[in-house]
Amino acid sequence: MWQVALSLTLAVLICFPAAIASTSTSSLPNPLAVPTLAAPVPTAARALPACSYADETTPLAGYDDWALTLLDTRYALPSSYVPADLVSTKAAGLNGGYLVRAVAVPDLAAMAGSAAAAGAPLAVISAYRTYRTQSATFWKWVRTLGFNYALLSSARPGHSEHQLGLAIDFKSRGGPLPWAYYSWARDTKAGKWMAAHAWEYGFVMSYPAGKTKKTCYGFEPWHYRYVGRDEAAAIHASRLVLREWLWLKQPQMIS
Ligand code: DAL
Ligand code: ZN
Repeated sequence: MWQVALSLTLAVLICFPAAIASTSTSSLPNPLAVPTLAAPVPTAARALPACSYADETTPLAGYDDWALTLLDTRYALPSSYVPADLVSTKAAGLNGGYLVRAVAVPDLAAMAGSAAAAGAPLAVISAYRTYRTQSATFWKWVRTLGFNYALLSSARPGHSEHQLGLAIDFKSRGGPLPWAYYSWARDTKAGKWMAAHAWEYGFVMSYPAGKTKKTCYGFEPWHYRYVGRDEAAAIHASRLVLREWLWLKQPQMIS
């Protein structure tokens, strides 16, 4: 699109040099000159790229970049990425046995409390995973499902949001595992409550239904990523999936 605008502008300037003269001599804005002055962000570079498979270090891989760190099938964390502030999910009033970054705990506690008060109590079934654990998980899925299906349901090591210490898989407290349902988000009180309210506490469903072409993974109604309340509210309002949103927030990258 921008190439078309640029070609058009060049054509206008070549064919109608008076347009240049009027820009410099008139106090009135010359609409023909606007495209050359407005250095546009090329839309092709901002458009969400199709899912591809690579092992590029994600551009925002610092521990303080957590709200905007993009992880997908192409961008990954280094194997050495281990947050220093991991604490038990018990700190948020949930079941223990799992770790999350302390930065998420106040909002996680508030969310768990509100869900329980609404009669939709939550339990954690997975949270922080090391690079090695993710590798074991991925290869277990390969043995179970075959390589191509595994790619749709499990991130390769380095590519999982769980390595950030900010992704949590939930189930209904006292209920079966969430993948026992066709849609935990539709068929259970806790799943429904999360789908409606998690964003208010800074959590976003990373892989919603029917968006595989954009998210690169199948529907995971149980998997939520903490991005903080401001980002989550903005993502909710935008109606974009998390990967689309984060793509727009990255330093300029070549797609
Ligand atoms: N199941 C998600 C994609 C993960 O492995 O992080
Ligand atoms: Zn998950």
